[in-house]
Amino acid sequence: MQLAMIQDAVMPLEDLPAPYLDRGMFFGDGVYEVLRSYEGKLFALDPHMQRFEESLEAIDIRGIDLDRVRRHVIDAYAQSGISEAKVYFHATRGQSARDMTDTPGLKPSFFMTVTELEDYSQEKDQGIPVWSHPDWRWKKCHIKSLNLLANVMARRDAHRRGGREAILFDEAKGLITEGAGSSFFALLLDVGGCLTLRTSPLIANILPSVTRTYVLRAADNIGLSVVEESVSCADAIQAQELFIAMTTHDIVPVVRFAETPIGDGKPGLVTQQLMSEFRKFVG
Ligand SMILES: Cc1ncc(COP(=O)(O)O)c(C=O)c1O
Repeated sequence: MQLAMIQDAVMPLEDLPAPYLDRGMFFGDGVYEVLRSYEGKLFALDPHMQRFEESLEAIDIRGIDLDRVRRHVIDAYAQSGISEAKVYFHATRGQSARDMTDTPGLKPSFFMTVTELEDYSQEKDQGIPVWSHPDWRWKKCHIKSLNLLANVMARRDAHRRGGREAILFDEAKGLITEGAGSSFFALLLDVGGCLTLRTSPLIANILPSVTRTYVLRAADNIGLSVVEESVSCADAIQAQELFIAMTTHDIVPVVRFAETPIGDGKPGLVTQQLMSEFRKFVG
């Protein structure tokens, strides 16, 4: 008899609930998206759908009807009635026995949750400590892949050391790429003494973060000069201000980088200006 076991329960293989035989489960063979709502309105649905399409194409998952996914997102969100929601969805290559080779005729699996966003106001008001960690990820970080083991290891390590986020750096180049689940920004004085916003370019093997795009727009709106160049950890600890950005929290000031307080150890003024500018996009 072919059998399976979940925790302590043995069962015939054919009784196994379908998600256990899924390439997402076995291999992380799938891609995902996270978007959020502000005050009852979904934010930035188009760029998230665009990135989802690009991720699907990049790993050659076919057969997902994107218009249908879009409708599902809108309908499920409306049905939830949640004002500040997190919408998570993923698609995997489909269900089959554990075999890396493609099984002909696979149908992609789709999964979505709409949940209440946590209250991040304390982190946003007071800022967070972060910890650096080597970037152990693969070479295709522009794909929003379900494979997040290196991100999880880095985030867990940061948490153990008292950080709220892990800031990943390329061990060979010594340059910061991004956070385990966020984009990373530094405000540094350039040679002429002018305050400049620095963040990794998209070619630095990072996720094309949707929030990053809005941060760059906010910087432009307040006349802040931006240079898309990676910084080192040594640059980061000397920065005037640091912050991270991601969909769920938008902008979060960073007040400590490993053991070093940033500036006066409080959220920086320009970061706060960018945060209020960002709010105008979601209003
Ligand atoms: C590695 C990584 N970088 C950046 C981000 C921020 O992306 P976004 O602004 O699209 O949420 C995320 C979000 O999950 C991420 O996982």
